[in-house]
Amino acid sequence: AGIHFHEFVIQPRPVRRLCKTQNIITVNGQFPGPTVEARNGDFVVIRVVNAAQYNISIHWHGLRMMRNPWADGPSYVTQCPIQPGRSYTYRFRIRDQEGTLWWHAHTGFLRATVYGAFIIYPRLGSSYPFSMPKQEYPILLGEWFDTDPVLLKSQADFTGLPPNSSVAYTINGQPGDLYRCSRQETVRVQVDAGDTILLRVISSALNQELFFSIANHTMTVVGTDAAYTKPFRTKLLVIGPGQTFNVLVTADQPPGLYYMAAHAYESAQNAPFDNTTTTAILEYRSTKLTNQNRPRSPILPALPPFNDTPTATAFTAGIKGLTKVKVFKKVDVNLYFIVGLGLINCTNPNSPQCQGPNGTRFTASINNVSFVLPTTTSLMQAYYEGIPGVFTTDFPPVPPLQFDYTGNVPRGLWTPSHGTRLYKLKYGSKVQIVLQDTSIVTTEEHPMHVHGFHFFVVGSGFGNFNPTTDPLKFNLVDPPVRNTIGTPPGGWVAIRFVADNPGIWFVHCHIDSHLNWGLGMALLVENGVGLSQSVKPPPSDLPQC
Ligand code: C2O
Repeated sequence: AGIHFHEFVIQPRPVRRLCKTQNIITVNGQFPGPTVEARNGDFVVIRVVNAAQYNISIHWHGLRMMRNPWADGPSYVTQCPIQPGRSYTYRFRIRDQEGTLWWHAHTGFLRATVYGAFIIYPRLGSSYPFSMPKQEYPILLGEWFDTDPVLLKSQADFTGLPPNSSVAYTINGQPGDLYRCSRQETVRVQVDAGDTILLRVISSALNQELFFSIANHTMTVVGTDAAYTKPFRTKLLVIGPGQTFNVLVTADQPPGLYYMAAHAYESAQNAPFDNTTTTAILEYRSTKLTNQNRPRSPILPALPPFNDTPTATAFTAGIKGLTKVKVFKKVDVNLYFIVGLGLINCTNPNSPQCQGPNGTRFTASINNVSFVLPTTTSLMQAYYEGIPGVFTTDFPPVPPLQFDYTGNVPRGLWTPSHGTRLYKLKYGSKVQIVLQDTSIVTTEEHPMHVHGFHFFVVGSGFGNFNPTTDPLKFNLVDPPVRNTIGTPPGGWVAIRFVADNPGIWFVHCHIDSHLNWGLGMALLVENGVGLSQSVKPPPSDLPQC
């Protein structure tokens, strides 16, 4: 197996977009940050040096980090953040994962600019389960803000409102042709007519799900979140923050210029969002463009309306897995997570923090608990060193169908309590979690991410999950493997995984404003028998708070 060394220097850098220069936090001065490439089974060593003025940590989104939570990265969950002037070296091994993942800052809203692709090729001597593409390109979808992300977060903390929507979406850091001042830098992907290329599409968007399409071209999805899928032909991707797709695209159209484009998928009603469109250009190299046939502008793809939930849901449900690992039939631990927004009563409804309906303040929760991170240590350090008082393990289970979650939800569920309450799982237990959206405040799709695991998505539907009838329709034959899955707006999604990775693992909505409001919890997976089933000791340079 190979070993890959990288140094990531976190540093501010002036970056010019949309006619305006601003200082953003970067890695090695690059935006987006460097791409990490490795093969399945390789070792990766990344020294992160914090030369910026903010605390930071880096999460390797989707990498399983077996028995090695110390390398996972979320601040105050598995490590204290790296303080300015300090460094920390992430050391980990890639185990049985192939495809596209990514890395991002996991402190406050810093991931708005601190992110990059993480590409895992098959082991030497093995190959893709599809014919070798001629070329490969990472396509990182993002959001561009005209405010410093740290200011964004303090603004969100103060007002309790989502940060201002982005001012542009980006492809590989570039807003593209449709925005003022951006044309020169628009990303171009070059193809030879007849060739098939592999696009590794990643959504690093902060608060917005996206529709993505390429004019006149059909995509074939062959992977999601670093797991292979049955080839699935589609004109459209729906991609939530945190998710990735590997798609094959064949240059089978008349030589020319074609836009690839993304705009918002906004499932919540009356929510403010950025309704602009980002583009990159698919450019046929063989194009014998003359002044006569040169298109004045590339062809734009048709994207669905912003609120097209039926189209989004049908796309997601159409993806089937291609894995040798079979999903288990018998579940040991059956959990039901109610995810949604909520409202807190304000003592002073006229305060600027209280801009919710009737002078309330927005919050978010799972099972009516709004998650609070510790500040003086990380959950994992507290667990490993036995520091009391940092968290409890009484995360409350709720029975399904206790209420009509998508109807008129009882007042008690509007006002969650705050807490750092974990759920304890025995090593090796077979876990099912049904994630149920509510209609509190609004129904909305929540892209839910589980650290430390990838999971089978065995079913989803609209309305309330029915524990008697819905499991009969579960796909236990070829469910897709994901690490982030949308809870449909006003609906539910069921996931399954084996708790074979001891440690503490964050579970949260990957929409950062929701996470900031408390839409998260953590699983504590206990050690199994013997060293090979136990958490490794922490590295000596693990940051302290
Ligand atoms: Cu990509 Cu905890 O997140």
